[in-house]
Amino acid sequence: MKILVTGGTGYIGSHTCIELLNSRYEVIVVDNLSNSKIEVINKIKTITNKDFKFYEMDLRSEEELRNIFSKEKIDAVIHFAGLKAVGESVQKPLLYYQNNLDSTLTLCKVMNEFKVKKLVFSSSATVYGEQKVLPIKESASLSTTNPYGSTKLFIEYILDDLYKSDNEWSIIKLRYFNPVGAHESGLIGEDPNGIPNNLMPYVSKVAIGELPYLNVFGDDYDTKDGTGVRDYIHVVDLAKGHLKALEYIDKNNDCIAINLGTGTGYSVLDIVKTYEKVNNIKVPYKITKRRDGDIAECYADSTKAKELLNWSSELSLDDMVKSAYNFIIKNKE
Ligand code: NAD
Ligand code: UD1
Repeated sequence: MKILVTGGTGYIGSHTCIELLNSRYEVIVVDNLSNSKIEVINKIKTITNKDFKFYEMDLRSEEELRNIFSKEKIDAVIHFAGLKAVGESVQKPLLYYQNNLDSTLTLCKVMNEFKVKKLVFSSSATVYGEQKVLPIKESASLSTTNPYGSTKLFIEYILDDLYKSDNEWSIIKLRYFNPVGAHESGLIGEDPNGIPNNLMPYVSKVAIGELPYLNVFGDDYDTKDGTGVRDYIHVVDLAKGHLKALEYIDKNNDCIAINLGTGTGYSVLDIVKTYEKVNNIKVPYKITKRRDGDIAECYADSTKAKELLNWSSELSLDDMVKSAYNFIIKNKE
């Protein structure tokens, strides 16, 4: 099967390309490099010892996309491409709506023209807003608190309507919880520009001394130690979930949402303590006030992924923090 991977040079996309290439798939990558680097292509080739085509282009460019679909016999698409910084989306909502919605609409339009109707879409647990009942099932109510989250929810609705209009489509909306960690080679991983917003890359920068200490955003939540609890999932486990999703859409015509999480919640202090223990390093921290918009606790009910995709996470929190540290050490400069 030939898979078009949009956003394939990004964090999750690059890890998924490795799993695809190491399995029975052919891969074509499309990315405009707005949040990733061209070097990733050669790193994927080095890790897998496999070759594949890369097109540097914006997904919103309909003609260029059409050219790719005419040249390549694509069987299915995994659509990672999108902007993902929550804070930036609040400052620049039009950029987020334009980029994320236009690129998905253009992609679906061209897929339709070429009768390629199998799609795996990167959604997010952000579409659950704040939930009272945990763990979170896919049937939970949906709401968002920022433009980034709204783009994910709107795209989910667009895909639902597309399927309703033509049930030859087969679509899986994967709702990721908190992807962390890196490939064991240390060649690829999460490499945000500037000061990281997310916890794990921030902890890594503190661990190597690039930042003096971690700000722990609040210790007065109603959680086991007062700090925020999340469902951290190893990016390699997450990548493997996409292969299971492809197997599912290849056999079924459906449009479904599926959580990809471990089902276990860890607090900020769990992360800090585990990072210190596994990597034998100090991670200084200070308790500060809560971050606006943060929720206390969020973790997945991962039953549906097990039942429908026969997928569940395998790697532990130790594996996550070990690979995150290995990546930052190897990519310090
Ligand atoms: P990333 O930024 O590393 O990768 C996204 C890639 O898409 C980048 O390489 C970027 O250059 C590319 N891109 C963006 N807009 C494009 C466009 N118009 N045309 C072509 N390429 C474009 O992000 P990631 O962490 O790998 O996330 C992948 C997907 O998963 C995103 O859609 C994101 O919203 C979603 N997601 C991520 C997380 C997370 O914590 N990382 C959680 C939930 C959902
Ligand atoms: C963030 C995004 C969310 C996205 C998710 C996936 C926000 C508001 N939300 O969620 O839309 O789907 O990433 O990756 O950005 N923390 C600290 N100090 C820090 C950074 C984080 O204490 O410097 C805490 C947070 O308060 C939270 C936990 O660590 O309790 C995880 O934070 P983060 O990694 O930013 O992820 P989310 O908040 O879950």
